[in-house]
Amino acid sequence: MNISQYFPKEEFVQRCVFITGGNSGINLGIAKCYAAVGAKVAICGRDEDKLDRAKSELEALGAKTHAVVADVRDFDAMQDACDEIQIALGKISDLVCGAAGNFLCPANEMSANAFRTVVDIDLMGSFNASRAAFEQLKETKGNVLMVSAGQAYMPYSHQVHAGAAKAGVEMLAKNLALEWGKFGIRVNSVVPGPIEGTEGVKRLTNEKQKQMLLQSIPLKRLGQAEEIGQVAVFLSSKMAAYITGAQVICDGGMNLAGSALFNMGVNQAGKSSG
Ligand code: HXC
Repeated sequence: MNISQYFPKEEFVQRCVFITGGNSGINLGIAKCYAAVGAKVAICGRDEDKLDRAKSELEALGAKTHAVVADVRDFDAMQDACDEIQIALGKISDLVCGAAGNFLCPANEMSANAFRTVVDIDLMGSFNASRAAFEQLKETKGNVLMVSAGQAYMPYSHQVHAGAAKAGVEMLAKNLALEWGKFGIRVNSVVPGPIEGTEGVKRLTNEKQKQMLLQSIPLKRLGQAEEIGQVAVFLSSKMAAYITGAQVICDGGMNLAGSALFNMGVNQAGKSSG
């Protein structure tokens, strides 16, 4: 689908979107959607090679792009990234907190450092990026989008770290929406289901589990990264001007069936090496 036909280029051409973890997967899909509607796109990640490849893909779509090597766990690195992006592309108008880490591990086998690592990336990383971008977002009356997960509101086996982190991310979004509305900043979250070809699906399912999972998805297919990007662009657009503090679920209806099939698959497969 060509998203550009639904949004006038003049709405996004002056906008500068910063997507943490934008070098791959869902976040790169989001970045491509913003590129397609004419926005300038900044991405950060830890892997320089992946960042370079993503930058080239975004430039091939015609987007003015800036890539920064930075870890969302490091607040100073996030502040430096935001300052650098402002110089390269202009003030940030839209922030997507997408950087996340995950693996399958039973709670009774998980080290405290493993739990903390995922909370640091997902929850602290989302706060760090939001706080670092705040002054620019205030000036642009911008938007923040948190990339959440179904684990935030339903327990999934071997996902205690991700569940705790993403539940925190959901509450972070709501609290920021409450406090930052007066600055003209809107804050929302998107809850992707399993998305085709992503690191998340690779880490959380094997082929047999994927087939089981498909049975529990009312729309009977995995999602596409661009389908999350379409939600992101919509929430950034004027069409969503009165939406803040909202959680948009884009999972083919997977949440309606609960997590039982996933849990059965995980428990049958045992601990994955992730
Ligand atoms: C158990 C594990 C583990 C595994 C790492 N650890 N992998 N424990 N099972 N499979 C433990 C390590 O032993 C260590 O604990 C601690 O976690 C930190 O590991 P490091 O490798 O030192 O951390 P780091 O290099 O910072 O890597 C972070 C990471 C890694 C999360 C562990 O997998 C990563 O970089 N992931 C980024 C990409 C990613 O995960 N993408 C998928 C996102 S999917 P000890 O005690 O030994 O020191 C996604 C979809 C949404 O988010 C799903 C819902 C949230």
